[in-house]
Amino acid sequence: MFRKKLWVMAAFSAALSGAVAAQPVPQLTLHDGLTVPQLGCGVWELDGREAYASVSAAIKLGYRLIDTAQYYQNEAETYQAVLDSGIPRSEFFITSKLNPRYSSEQEIRKALDRSLQNMGGTIDLMLIHWPFGADELAWRIMEEYVRAGKFKAIGLSNYHPDALKRMLKIATIKPQVNQIEFHPYNSKLDELAQNQDLGVTVEAWSPLGAGRQKVMADPVIESIARAHGKSTAQVILRWDIQHGVITIPRSRNPRHLQENIEVGDFELSAQEMQDIDALNKNAALWDI
Ligand SMILES: NC(=O)c1ccc[n+]([C@@H]2O[C@H](COP(=O)([O-])OP(=O)(O)OC[C@H]3O[C@@H](n4cnc5c(N)ncnc54)[C@H](OP(=O)(O)O)[C@@H]3O)[C@@H](O)[C@H]2O)c1
Repeated sequence: MFRKKLWVMAAFSAALSGAVAAQPVPQLTLHDGLTVPQLGCGVWELDGREAYASVSAAIKLGYRLIDTAQYYQNEAETYQAVLDSGIPRSEFFITSKLNPRYSSEQEIRKALDRSLQNMGGTIDLMLIHWPFGADELAWRIMEEYVRAGKFKAIGLSNYHPDALKRMLKIATIKPQVNQIEFHPYNSKLDELAQNQDLGVTVEAWSPLGAGRQKVMADPVIESIARAHGKSTAQVILRWDIQHGVITIPRSRNPRHLQENIEVGDFELSAQEMQDIDALNKNAALWDI
């Protein structure tokens, strides 16, 4: 079941050329009606300085969804790039994630409060980074933070369907998002369908294989890319979007950032989607 998609035209200034490029930007509506950009940028493995530079460049190119985490140790620099952009905070959708290393209520609250302090007092989407012993306790605390207006939405990351169902049983606020590893070599479409049937939007982490897999050099994807005059990265990101998935590629390279956001002006055919689906090898990058 696909989330309702809104396709809006937005004019974005291109950071490199200074030109204004019109790009159709996909937006997606989560189950509670919150509308979010379907494409953003991630900042895993970037130190604070790199995260600041990457997010600053991305914002100039039109990115408004930004994905960080306590574990990445760059929340403050990521948020500083948002502040320094001069663009109203309300235009952004910023995600962070609770580091699942805490076991007591006091530790969990302290960690959540530290993220809020790093990121200006409100966070659009707070995720539990991966399942852990105290995740049901953490979820109840995060629900409280939603009711207090500190988080706009809450969700999960790396929850396989059984773990997701366990959380759905105790949740009084249903998770909006489940952020999972999702790329053509690890697409697990049955898992995607289960999340979507439960009304939970899937967000793709490592959509480009984290630069560690050869997915961007796959011959099938290369041939589809040639047919559309696009790069393989753009084809993969477009495939995410047509699957109803939010995607958050990361780059230190402004040219790649620009390329990655230019995916709203072409469409993959049903056959091309199936050809990319067929590349799945269940080749997970990490066993989470
Ligand atoms: N929830 C979780 O457990 C979890 C786990 C992993 C990641 N994530 C999130 O997902 C985000 C994205 O995943 P990721 O960081 O693992 O990797 P990714 O986005 O799959 O891949 C990043 C790699 O692709 C390269 N790249 C980006 N755009 C490109 C382009 N257009 N052409 C060629 N190469 C390109 C980058 O190199 P350049 O810098 O040279 O462009 C980098 O080496 C993370 O940053 C993080 O926010 C979450």
